[in-house]
Amino acid sequence: MAELQEVQITEEKPLLPGQTPEAAKEAELAARILLDQGQTHSVETPYGSVTFTVYGTPKPKRPAILTYHDVGLNYKSCFQPLFQFGDMQEIIQNFVRVHVDAPGMEEGAAVFPLGYQYPSLDQLADMIPCILQYLNFSTIIGIGVGAGAYILSRYALNHPDTVEGLVLINIDPNAKGWMDWAAHKLTGLTSSISEMILGHLFSQEELSGNSELIQKYRNIITHAPNLDNIELYWNSYNNRRDLNFERGGDITLKCPVMLVVGDQAPHEDAVVECNSKLDPTQTSFLKPGKLTEAFKYFLQGMGYMASSCMTRLSRSRTASLTSAASIDGNRSRSRTLSQSSESGTLSSGPPGHTMEVSC
Ligand code: BEZ
Repeated sequence: MAELQEVQITEEKPLLPGQTPEAAKEAELAARILLDQGQTHSVETPYGSVTFTVYGTPKPKRPAILTYHDVGLNYKSCFQPLFQFGDMQEIIQNFVRVHVDAPGMEEGAAVFPLGYQYPSLDQLADMIPCILQYLNFSTIIGIGVGAGAYILSRYALNHPDTVEGLVLINIDPNAKGWMDWAAHKLTGLTSSISEMILGHLFSQEELSGNSELIQKYRNIITHAPNLDNIELYWNSYNNRRDLNFERGGDITLKCPVMLVVGDQAPHEDAVVECNSKLDPTQTSFLKPGKLTEAFKYFLQGMGYMASSCMTRLSRSRTASLTSAASIDGNRSRSRTLSQSSESGTLSSGPPGHTMEVSC
């Protein structure tokens, strides 16, 4: 906390006594560089300590973007490709990013002692308020993948007033049924934990294609020094409770939600089902590979992207967005994005909408 508050940069920062404007500028620059490189912190919570890394400079009245990674990954292996993608820079420079590592997943994490009780996904969600309190953020926009998407959804159900938006990638909101358990047990007889986790992260087609990307992740997971910890997070994921989303009911996400699923991803059906339980009236599908762009529209819908930036973007759009057809006649989800791209003035609808992106 102290670290962040000391270097917090405001537009009109007063000079310290005896400080020259040049020295103040230098200090500000040093602080900015430090924050942009990412600073790692740990906080104690009722369920043990949690580590997170903070990038970017605080902006007044803006939520933090808080990410939560999937099983088998950490914040870097899960989110670095997205956050270091060129088009993402104009978005993220406007936000502080708080990247949470699930306990024992941070780089260099010690292996938990035998018998250590790893937190459930619900308890992992209950650790988030400690992080926000430490950083003094009252609201977030959450980006979660797989288990991380579940954790952020659970957090949003418990603390709806603190979540301005959610991007949920490959979410499965359901507890495992007995059929899933039987399949899981059978697979466990013939496959290693790392292969099971790879089967969770990638489709069978991708795995059998054995591309460089697959080889890279297979190598990372198989040789992870904290593989025992990863197995504990994996077990918590498989023991998750049903989120029990109810369309129009009390248990639903109150904030705008962007659902994202990869084509042929192992969780495609689960995400589609999840979409059917959230607000179906303003849901959009995009063609693959449009995650960054969709995220910009999503933020703009919440009033967080400058219209100049959006207009330039919309001009550069390809026909693929305008032709993005709804895959389900009942849910004409191309509405938001195709209208926007044609007119050049983008309006992604009122907050509270759910958008589904396939990539
Ligand atoms: C970020 O800028 O938020 C970021 C940088 C490196 C890895 C992940 C995220």
